[in-house]
Amino acid sequence: MTHASHELSPEAQIEILEQQLEHAQRMATLGDLMSTTTHEFNNLLMTIINYARLGLRNRDDATRDKALGKILSASERAARVTSTVLAVARNRSHTFEPTDLVKLIDDTLVLLEREMNKYRIAVEREFESVPLARANGNQIQQVLINLLVNARQAMPDGGRVIIRLRHDPQDNTVLLMIRDTGQGIAAEKLKQIFDPYFTTKSGPDETGKGGTGIGLSACRDIIEAHQGRIRVESTMGRGTAFAIKLPVATSVSSPAAAVITTPSVASSPLHPQ
Ligand SMILES: Nc1ncnc2c1ncn2[C@@H]1O[C@H](COP(=O)(O)OP(=O)(O)O)[C@@H](O)[C@H]1O
Ligand SMILES: [Mg+2]
Repeated sequence: MTHASHELSPEAQIEILEQQLEHAQRMATLGDLMSTTTHEFNNLLMTIINYARLGLRNRDDATRDKALGKILSASERAARVTSTVLAVARNRSHTFEPTDLVKLIDDTLVLLEREMNKYRIAVEREFESVPLARANGNQIQQVLINLLVNARQAMPDGGRVIIRLRHDPQDNTVLLMIRDTGQGIAAEKLKQIFDPYFTTKSGPDETGKGGTGIGLSACRDIIEAHQGRIRVESTMGRGTAFAIKLPVATSVSSPAAAVITTPSVASSPLHPQ
């Protein structure tokens, strides 16, 4: 297809390049999701296998009850992991729906919790009550995975990720902030990080993620399609914060139904250090 592109008008060539970038973005984000979920699923299977062995080796009720309990909770987690992948496979629509960002973040952290633990990263949630956002859940989940994996990769010696949710009644948006305590981004690079294929990584890491330079360009395109905005702030050696604004869903008939109250999750650290 590309060999004939010199016969096309510049507009048509740009169109083709944009389609190729969109395809690469989709493949990269799907790849990240697949490697994350497969790793997590595999770890859960290991847990299930080990406790099944333990239960078979030990005939006493107490050990067997404990083993079955562990097997049940690992299986339930595994079901949550596969349901995420199935939701992405099933729902390819580009529609925007009233979306519960608290649930979306929780579902995403189920996928990344073990990876964060492994790299000694504490995830802290600071959630205020926020209305439903007008969003495509799958796409925002891809943004979350991109940003959280970038944060993790910026903290090779461990650190903290703070996920914050706020409602801005002034412009009726939901503000989602992901802050890390990583290495930060130099001022001259900050301008380029959203450019397609800009990367400072030598290639994918041992979990198979990053190094394409596509992640943030995909995030920006997704957020712009939502009529939202994405901003970055960074200090070398201190950390980086990405702030995303999404419009509040207005199609919800009862305003009361649009408000989620989640006092139990409010600023409860996932892994206190
Ligand atoms: N949280 C972060 N901390 C430090 N640098 C970051 C962070 N997020 C992104 N970057 C920088 O932006 C670049 C582009 O990110 P991205 O588009 O996700 O591509 P990739 O992760 O494949 O390099 C990264 O290579 C890195 O230099
Ligand atoms: Mg990335």
